[in-house]
Amino acid sequence: ILNKKIVVLAGDGIGPEVCQEAIRVLKAVGERFGHEFSFDMQLMGACAIDATGDPLPEATLQACFEADAVLLGAIGDPKYDNNPAAKVRPEQGLLKLRKSLGLFANIRPVKAYEALLPQSPLKEERIKGADMLFFRELTGGIYFGEKGRLADSAYDHCTYSRYEIARVAHLAFQAAQNRRRKLTLVDKANVLETSRLWREVVQEVRVSYPDVAVDYLFVDNAAMQLILNPSQFDVILTENMFGDILSDEASVIAGSLGMLPSASVGEEAALFEPIHGSYPQAKGKNIANPIAMILSGAMMLEHFGLYQEASLVHHAVQEALDKKILTQDLTSPTLAYSTEQVGAFIVSCVLGGVLEGL
Ligand code: IPM
Ligand code: MN
Repeated sequence: ILNKKIVVLAGDGIGPEVCQEAIRVLKAVGERFGHEFSFDMQLMGACAIDATGDPLPEATLQACFEADAVLLGAIGDPKYDNNPAAKVRPEQGLLKLRKSLGLFANIRPVKAYEALLPQSPLKEERIKGADMLFFRELTGGIYFGEKGRLADSAYDHCTYSRYEIARVAHLAFQAAQNRRRKLTLVDKANVLETSRLWREVVQEVRVSYPDVAVDYLFVDNAAMQLILNPSQFDVILTENMFGDILSDEASVIAGSLGMLPSASVGEEAALFEPIHGSYPQAKGKNIANPIAMILSGAMMLEHFGLYQEASLVHHAVQEALDKKILTQDLTSPTLAYSTEQVGAFIVSCVLGGVLEGL
């Protein structure tokens, strides 16, 4: 029986709605297994700017440091996107949070769910069986290099140290050892010096994992291969921006961006967030898919070592997919269920699901 303090950064747009469902699911898990999960709601993103002027207020950061884990909904608001002159932006809060908590590895599982194969615009026979795990470096590269504006130009520097590459590479190799023992490094080593360093370091790190097969792909080719033959991938290791772009692309394989969870980990802290954004057009409409957020909660349970609990959540999600309890990103508007209905169904499966065989 565990006692865990969870900070929730519901954020903007659909963030609060999907967080609410994930919290309900986690409370159901707690009830079923006797764990005590406490949820402390804090401000981050555009809502924090509106309330305090700061996208990541000191109180929020402090609460995150003291928590056992952080759950994040989504951040972002179009009023900042369309204003290039904005001095404070919601995204700065998220980047500062990742950096401050030392969350250097962002883990994004992507798979083609059997029940959702017809939902993907990609041909079923191409995506069937695809099951991959992205390791996206999260606190370096072009996101965090020096940036600036000159009179008629702008720049964003991309820098990586050996240390930054090696630590995420080790995690990716370890994950590969527990899967199909294949790791693909995605880079642009034919052009970028940082990518050549990635290759060099990965070649050094792989020596410690002789049972893992390694291959190297240029990012442009990887973008094509993901759609052409996604089953070839097991673990994909890549730098910050390539990982951001490729994982959105890969969500098409799962059927919807609303299906993909993620875990961001470092030496100590851990944060769990869906890969989707704040989907402002859907805000308050009770139509967003809560599954990415709920599965992010399941990744948190795994992080706590609660494997049976996480597995129960996965089975409950599977049940929703099989019974076609789907939000409108996955079905026609007339057949669609609401965010709350999908959440409630998953909660009922968590409370009532059979434990044997898990
Ligand atoms: C993500 C998002 C963020 C990123 C944005 C909101 C800064 O797209 O988590 O994938 O680019 O990392
Ligand atoms: Mn992204």
